[in-house]
Amino acid sequence: MAEHTQESSGVRKPITLPRLAEMHRAGEKIAVLTCYDATFARILDDAGVDVLLVGDSLGMVVQGRPNTLPVSIEDMVYHTSCVARGNRSAWLIADMPFGSYHESAEQAVRNASRLFQAGAQMVKIEGGWVAATVRALVERGMPVCAHLGFTPQTVHALGGYRIQGRDAGGAALLHAQARDLADAGAQMLVLELVPSVLARELTQALPLPTIGIGAGRGCGGQVLVLHDMLDLTPGPRPRFVRNFLDVGAGVQDAVRRYVSDVKSGAYPDDMLHGY
Ligand code: KIV
Repeated sequence: MAEHTQESSGVRKPITLPRLAEMHRAGEKIAVLTCYDATFARILDDAGVDVLLVGDSLGMVVQGRPNTLPVSIEDMVYHTSCVARGNRSAWLIADMPFGSYHESAEQAVRNASRLFQAGAQMVKIEGGWVAATVRALVERGMPVCAHLGFTPQTVHALGGYRIQGRDAGGAALLHAQARDLADAGAQMLVLELVPSVLARELTQALPLPTIGIGAGRGCGGQVLVLHDMLDLTPGPRPRFVRNFLDVGAGVQDAVRRYVSDVKSGAYPDDMLHGY
């Protein structure tokens, strides 16, 4: 491993925002996984995952709910503090849950502060309408990851789990929203369920790393829900998810293979992505 990512003790140096920007500039893919507790935080960090996302997907995979909407700021603060205690060097992002930033920039700042106090280093907010909120957070020293394409907190308005930006109008809207969010100071952008051609175009057009999920291989990095890539989630697997546990070498090895396949570009492939 390169000197700048490893201390002489063998423990990886903490991943910082400048380091993530440098990785992106150098064309190194950023490997992201969701994480909800201290034990997995330690396993994922030790396996070389660059970024841990305390996703509000915990509503489904931890709490057994049908979607992310019931997750509260208290839930997010609790799980963020658990992950922060297990993590040593990965960058730590926490999702702002539904209703915690929708009223005003003041409300967003108040709730984001709680996540930073719990150990988050960046917060993630969904939607193309949040540029003013991003600006308010960033001005106060709170780094923001934006999230466009399919945004799970608006699943009802979007009519279900559907690919976004398929037609010319939808693609133009995503380009405009992504530009607004980058101009407002967002330093990372999750693209979920977006055609791979559009995700690649956005990645080339923007000054920040894009992190894809169901968005093909042209993004600056990839994220998966931990329970999906370990095949723990009941029901059919989404087409873009690969089961990294299937050779039976254990969780640590599955996560190492995920990091290595994201870095080398072996995951995702366009066949797996399928659109
Ligand atoms: O909550 C979550 O896990 C997410 C990822 C799907 C990006 O937002």
